[in-house]
Amino acid sequence: MSITAAVGPGSSQRIGGGARTNDGDIVTGITIGLKPSAGLCLVVGAGPQLQARVEGLQVRGMSCRVVPDLDGQTGGDVALLLALDDDPRVNAVALEWGRQQGIALRYGEGCPAESTLDLLRTLDAEPRPVRKAQGASGRGEVYLIGAGPGDPELLTRRALRLLQAADVVLYDRLVAPAILALIPEHCERINVGKQRDRHPVPQDEINVRLRDLAQQGLRVARLKGGDPFIFGRGGEELDRLLDWGIPFQVVPGITAASGCAAYAGIPLTHRDHAQSCIFVTGHRRAGGVDVDFPALVRPGQTVVCYMGLHTLPALCAGMLAHGMDPLMPAALVEQGTTDRQQVIVGTVSDLPDRVAAREVHAPTLLIVGSVVTLRSRLEWFQGRPDGQGF
Ligand SMILES: C[S@@+](CC[C@H](N)C(=O)[O-])C[C@H]1O[C@@H](n2cnc3c(N)ncnc32)[C@H](O)[C@@H]1O
Repeated sequence: MSITAAVGPGSSQRIGGGARTNDGDIVTGITIGLKPSAGLCLVVGAGPQLQARVEGLQVRGMSCRVVPDLDGQTGGDVALLLALDDDPRVNAVALEWGRQQGIALRYGEGCPAESTLDLLRTLDAEPRPVRKAQGASGRGEVYLIGAGPGDPELLTRRALRLLQAADVVLYDRLVAPAILALIPEHCERINVGKQRDRHPVPQDEINVRLRDLAQQGLRVARLKGGDPFIFGRGGEELDRLLDWGIPFQVVPGITAASGCAAYAGIPLTHRDHAQSCIFVTGHRRAGGVDVDFPALVRPGQTVVCYMGLHTLPALCAGMLAHGMDPLMPAALVEQGTTDRQQVIVGTVSDLPDRVAAREVHAPTLLIVGSVVTLRSRLEWFQGRPDGQGF
């Protein structure tokens, strides 16, 4: 067994099989080459991101044992301990156990934000050859790619081609696992959507990572849910790249409004119902939501609201207060275009209560307008068996 670890930038050390680190503490800031024969990887925890990480290890030839907690575990030949539970207390107990067992490589709470991902993308035994970008400039390049709302078949051909040509992919929380599965094995993946502490990687940090990777001569795919220019901060990222002289390309994606409306059977601008369609966000702000309500209640218009689940009652109340017909049809599309899609249909008056009565999972999209009535005829996509709405 051979484990090579570089601890902190610039320094590296070789750790023999099963040996402790010098200080016996959690190994942090680590880049690892770990041969598949190294021994077992014990993964402690449960949580939505766990499965993908375990698969990442298994793809690299590691044998993994996943346990929700440490009951009944012994040290055995555990070479690597990953404490990845959503609950920091579970992780703390696991890491302390690992320390007592003398497991040299331990990951979890207390490690730097990116360390677990650094680990997963560098588990290959051999260093990955760095491919140089083929752009006319000879420098790296950033591909800003829209991944669509969830169904991987909604990815465009250009998106897929560039994704498969990339050396590294930085992806957001909303990019569906089925789309991540299309990224070639040789390609590094970096999740910039959510860290262990549930906060997204700050935008400035993402910008700097894009720059640094491109300046290494890499083709960098920046993969975003939906369309990068619709509530996706794509323009901000390109602005910074432009400042730094980094070349880029943009690939549009199917935005949630188009995808969810199509899969819910709601034509957003059916000409018998709506002559315009307005996209807004339902962001919370002190004392309510940051929405131009008079603009939402115009006749002959469909309203599509992104990021409006938590502010749904305030959004509906605001539209009613500004004169919207209380019987105006409204729908909430949950996890649209995926096999978990559900659609809750009501009116702008009763939709908040209907939604409150259900267990609803983000992401969700609110559609308000008489076009919603068309769903009763045009509904075609079957999500979950219980996902038929009302
Ligand atoms: C930060 S915005 C990003 C929008 C994205 N750029 C786009 O064009 O769809 C995230 C919001 O998009 C909506 N959304 C994205 N994917 C969705 C899906 N599959 N089903 C329902 N809503 C979705 C939700 O309102 C979510 O809160």
